[in-house]
Amino acid sequence: MTKADLILGAQWGDEGKGKMVDLLAKEYDFVVRFGGGHNAGHTIVANGKKYALHSIPSGILYEKCKNVIANGVVLNPSALLEEMAQFGGVEALKERLFISHNAHLILPYHESLDKLKERSAKIGTTGKGIGPAYADKISRSGFLAIDLQKPKELCEKILAKYSELGELYSADSMYFKAPNKNELLELLESYKSALGGFLCDCSELLWEALERDKKVLLEGAQGSMLDIDHGTYPFVTSSNTTAGGACTGTGLPPSSIGRVIGISKAYCTRVGNGPFPTEQDNQIGENLRQKGGEFGVTTGRARRCGWLDAVALKRACKLSGISEIALMKLDVLDGFERVCVGVSYGENGCKYREFSGWENSAGVREFSKLPQKAQDYIKALEEIIGVKISMISTSAEREDTIFK
Ligand code: IMP
Repeated sequence: MTKADLILGAQWGDEGKGKMVDLLAKEYDFVVRFGGGHNAGHTIVANGKKYALHSIPSGILYEKCKNVIANGVVLNPSALLEEMAQFGGVEALKERLFISHNAHLILPYHESLDKLKERSAKIGTTGKGIGPAYADKISRSGFLAIDLQKPKELCEKILAKYSELGELYSADSMYFKAPNKNELLELLESYKSALGGFLCDCSELLWEALERDKKVLLEGAQGSMLDIDHGTYPFVTSSNTTAGGACTGTGLPPSSIGRVIGISKAYCTRVGNGPFPTEQDNQIGENLRQKGGEFGVTTGRARRCGWLDAVALKRACKLSGISEIALMKLDVLDGFERVCVGVSYGENGCKYREFSGWENSAGVREFSKLPQKAQDYIKALEEIIGVKISMISTSAEREDTIFK
C-alpha cells in the first residue's frame, strides 16, 4: 500500500503552496484539501490564463487528477459554485471533484458572526465566517454537506438558527434578519441539484485509493503558525494546519503519510494581527512587499513583511515532521545589499544572522547556476533549520523551479 504525501505551509500562510501543489499535482491521482475554507486563496497561471483557487484543490488543472474536498474543510456552497464556474461548472467537474459528506457548511450568518466578533477581538480575520463555522462544528450545532440532500429540513433548521441568533444578539439583530423562507428553500434546492452528485465518503475513497497504489497528495491551507493549537493564539485560524490536521481532516491514519513537504518563502509575511518577530515595518519591508507582490488574493490586504524567521520555521518542521522544504520566491531577495535570517528571540527583539546579498537568481533552474551568495544562503539555512531544502522557486512560472 502506498502512502499519501503531504504539503503544508510552514509559516503564516501565503508561502506559495499553490505553485508547488500545481507543479507536483501532475504526478498524482488525487489532490486533497483537508482543512480551512475559502479564507485560503492562490492564483495559478496556466496556459496563459489566471485561475483563483479558494476551496478547490490545486490539482484541478490536470485532467486525470481527482480533487477531494475532505471532511476537515468548511465549505461555503455559493462561493464553491462560483469557483467551479472557472473550470466549466458542475457538468465539467463530474468525477473530477469530490466533496466529503462531513465537511461543514459555512452559511451567511457565519460571516455576520465573524464580522461582529472582529469589532472586539481584532484578529484581522478574512471575514469569511471560518471561525464561527468551526465553532458550530465543535459545539455540535453545525450543518454538514450531506444536509444539503434534505433541503426542506435544512431550511427549517437554518430559520430556527436565525431566530436563536436574533435573540442572542438582540442589540445587533439587523445582522440576523431571517431570509425569506421560499427564497431560502429555492437556494438550498439549487445547491442540492448542483452539488449533491459530488458528495462522497472521502475517507473510504482515500483508503481505497491508497490500497490500489494510487498517488495521493494532501494539500494544506494557511500556515503552521496559524494552527489553532500550535500557532500564535489567539491570532490564528480555527483549524489544525499542521500535520495532525491532515489525519483528522481526511480520516487517513498517521501511518498513511509519507513525504511531508514544508513550504516556506525565502523571507516572511503575515496578514492579520499577531506576533511577527522578524517583521520589517520599514523600507526593507516595503521593498519586499512591492517586489514580492505581497497583497492578499482573498482580501487584497497588504501583507506585513520581514526577514525569514528560522526559529518559527524550525518549530514548524518539528510540529509536522517536515522532511524537506520547498523555498519559495528566492528571486524576491535579488538586489538586496544584505539578507538577514532571524535565529533567536531575545529580550531586545530578534537576533539575526546576516548574509551578503546577490543579483539575478530570477528564472534560474539549476542549483549550480544560482549566484554563489544565494547558494551560500540556502546551505546556511539548511544548517540552521536542520532540514533539507529540496526545491527552490525562482519565479511564479512552473518551470522556474530548482529540484536539488
Ligand atoms: P480566518 O481564518 O479568516 O479566521 O483568519 C484568522 C487569521 O488567519 C487572520 O490573521 C487571517 O489573516 C489569517 N489567514 C486565514 N487564511 C489565510 C491564508 O490563506 N493566508 C494567510 N493568512 C490567512
